[in-house]
Amino acid sequence: MTTLRLPGLVDVHTHLRVPGGEHKEDFATGTAAALSGGFTCVLAMPNTSPPLVTRTALQGARQLAQASIRCDVGLFGGASPEHIDDLAALAEHAVGLKIYLNDTFGPLRVEDLPTLQACFDRWPRTKPIAMHAEGQSVAVGIGLAAAYHRPVHFCHISRRDEIELIASAKQAGLPVTCEVTPHHLFLTEADAHRLGPLGDMRPRLARQDDQDALWQHLANTVDCIATDHAPHTLAEKASDNPPPGVAGLETSLPLMLTAVRQGRLTMARLVELMAVNPRRVFGLPDQADTFVEIDPDARYEIANHALHTKCGWTPFAGMQVWGRVQRVVLRGAVAYDSDDPDQMAQPGSGRLVPGNDGR
Ligand code: DOR
Ligand code: ZN
Ligand code: ZN
Repeated sequence: MTTLRLPGLVDVHTHLRVPGGEHKEDFATGTAAALSGGFTCVLAMPNTSPPLVTRTALQGARQLAQASIRCDVGLFGGASPEHIDDLAALAEHAVGLKIYLNDTFGPLRVEDLPTLQACFDRWPRTKPIAMHAEGQSVAVGIGLAAAYHRPVHFCHISRRDEIELIASAKQAGLPVTCEVTPHHLFLTEADAHRLGPLGDMRPRLARQDDQDALWQHLANTVDCIATDHAPHTLAEKASDNPPPGVAGLETSLPLMLTAVRQGRLTMARLVELMAVNPRRVFGLPDQADTFVEIDPDARYEIANHALHTKCGWTPFAGMQVWGRVQRVVLRGAVAYDSDDPDQMAQPGSGRLVPGNDGR
């Protein structure tokens, strides 16, 4: 058996569903899923119920997190037109600001220019801004990055025209970064047809030509692979009004290791996309004595029953992959061991980013 050592991976886009969605995921189950997927730090989105748009809501979620997280977690604050005056106070303990420009799960939306301007005026320049922007909203985000001369990070870019526009913006020297998800790299609208609600998420699965563009730009334009881990229960997915979103924390690394095996990217580039760049883009602290041991030669079928996420399913069930996470060590202590469930890090052993001192 071969063992390779990778740095602790960072997922800059995950949904841990606290508060209000604990039947889908919670801090203990979501961070167990993270560790078993090779992630030692995850950044969680604010489209919770209620959403994390005030200092009080964010501090409440941080308190719950501190008691339950098994790996390191940062919480995004959310932008909303009703809470513009809360932004400065929200920023202190948030890892960044998330602005939703397009329709998706949850109530957070910013659809008018004055609110966008207020976000850029009030959110501290030292803290990142991330956007859910699809189609021409990507151009809006690039325009704001240029006009305010400050970084903007684009979440889950999925279309050829979007990634090509971001490539042009980067060539023009604008401070933009972007992530792509494994589900957009490995599934297309043909799979959406086969999977039904289990293949529905925002942005929706795209055409083969869009997917080809993401792979072409993986070598340079793309900064991060992010999971957009968005768990919903099977009952919700079977309902008349299924919410968009799929789990991703436990399948992203095996899928990307499979791509390495197939020669679609190098292991060094995988490490940049899943560890080095996520830390750089979001200014995250190093985690000392932290690493992931993988067996790149392990071949197996992705199975729902093996998952740690509370939702218990993945659109990739049944797929053959190469590469298994064997062990995760976080700050010198074993936090996950594929052979020994007792080694799973305890709830409360993870750290919040930033800490209570704001750093
Ligand atoms: O599919 C999605 N689900 N896209 C999003 O932007 C939100 C997410 C969720 O929270 O379920
Ligand atoms: Zn989104
Ligand atoms: Zn998301």
